[in-house]
Amino acid sequence: MKIRVGIEAIAFDVPHLYLDLAELAQARGVDPAKYTRGLGQRQMAVASSGDDTVALAVGAGRRLFEQFQIDRESVGLLIVGTETSVDQSKPVSSYVHEHLGLSPQCRSFETKHACYGAMAGLQAATDWVLSGRAAGRKALVIASDVARYGIKTAGEPTQGAGSVAMVISSEPRLLEFETGRQGFFSQQVMDFWRPTYSKDALVDGHYSMACYIKALLASYDMYAPGATEGASEPGFFQSFQACLYHAPFAKMAQKAHLALLAHVAGTELLPETPAYAAALEDYSRRVAPYLELQSRIGNTYTGSLFMALRSLLEDGVFQGSPAISLFSYGSGCAAEFMTARVCEGAAALLRRHPYRLQLDARTRVSVDEYEKLMEAAARMDQNGSFALGSPEASGAGARKVLFHGVKDHQRQYRPSH
Ligand code: CAA
Repeated sequence: MKIRVGIEAIAFDVPHLYLDLAELAQARGVDPAKYTRGLGQRQMAVASSGDDTVALAVGAGRRLFEQFQIDRESVGLLIVGTETSVDQSKPVSSYVHEHLGLSPQCRSFETKHACYGAMAGLQAATDWVLSGRAAGRKALVIASDVARYGIKTAGEPTQGAGSVAMVISSEPRLLEFETGRQGFFSQQVMDFWRPTYSKDALVDGHYSMACYIKALLASYDMYAPGATEGASEPGFFQSFQACLYHAPFAKMAQKAHLALLAHVAGTELLPETPAYAAALEDYSRRVAPYLELQSRIGNTYTGSLFMALRSLLEDGVFQGSPAISLFSYGSGCAAEFMTARVCEGAAALLRRHPYRLQLDARTRVSVDEYEKLMEAAARMDQNGSFALGSPEASGAGARKVLFHGVKDHQRQYRPSH
């Protein structure tokens, strides 16, 4: 009998502070339209010192258990994908395992490949379920990151922070993966990296976009060989009712979609031509409706693609079980193109917990407050002992698990249960 595999539950978490990007542009002496139209970003999540990768991952996991009836004992595998881990050796997953109260008989580890880390975890979890070794147990895959480039860098408006938790199982209620094909791509490139001594990422920004597009087209070609013009499956890419992309900034999804449309058609898309207008219309129908979380949170690295998915599962209005595509890109680089079918009834489940309510509950900070929080976070982790003060002082709102400092070289999290 064919084993089904996909997403049974999904939830996200985000810092409770955010910055308006038009205000940031003004402070930097830049036309606000560059950030809002040129990059497609409206707001940016601002992580306080208490909002580290662990606290955000636990936050998403807790929301998932609160929102869906998942038995913690049924979780046999926990994978946390992150590129902003808190330790060179100890995985984020070990703290998450404790604070989510998971069983000792649950494997737990961390995966890293820049923004691809959680997709790597999702693929490993999928194979675990398909192999039969899960034996009815479920995998919890969490993407969690705090994206930092630094104050007044070109990457500054593309920062952000957040986490997405997903239960992968043989009882998908939200999204069923199509596992008959695979499309991935790996190549060593120096487009984006973060040396162990640096809290901020280093990036060759325009080159990184070129690497992303190259990896997208190569992954697609492996997934759908012969699907470009004149070959056996010319309409294949058109068969998806929505196309989701890793979006370090929302406009990147538009660049990706247009590049793939041109590739599939075997032609160049020149501005101000009917073909270009048709491609933009296609983008506004199949991609743009699902960018709200990404454009209001910013880059969440490993979580970015799954933020688009969370948005689609709630907002998508479809007949039956439509096919969708998902593309993950991690600098360095690794990429994956995959497809899936939205399960009937998914939207009704997610509309019980509207994501806009979660976003609207946040507090706006000024550029000055954001800079102070960035500077405070940069001073952290310089030695084996420091305290962040009260939850209120660290600005993390009502978060139930909060990083509050380091004592004797050991990270301290506020007890949660
Ligand atoms: N009004 C409207 N639009 C404007 C404008 C204005 N006044 N001024 C500029 N723009 C537009 C530009 O035309 C440009 O759009 P197009 O690319 O469509 O032409 C856009 O605004 C950005 O302008 P620039 O390219 O001049 O911006 P920049 O050089 O200052 O920086 C960036 C842009 C390279 C993305 C930078 O923010 C960056 O380095 N970000 C981090 C790296 C990144 O996100 N890379 C993405 C691929 S790698 C990846 O996906 C992995 C990951 O998560 C990091």
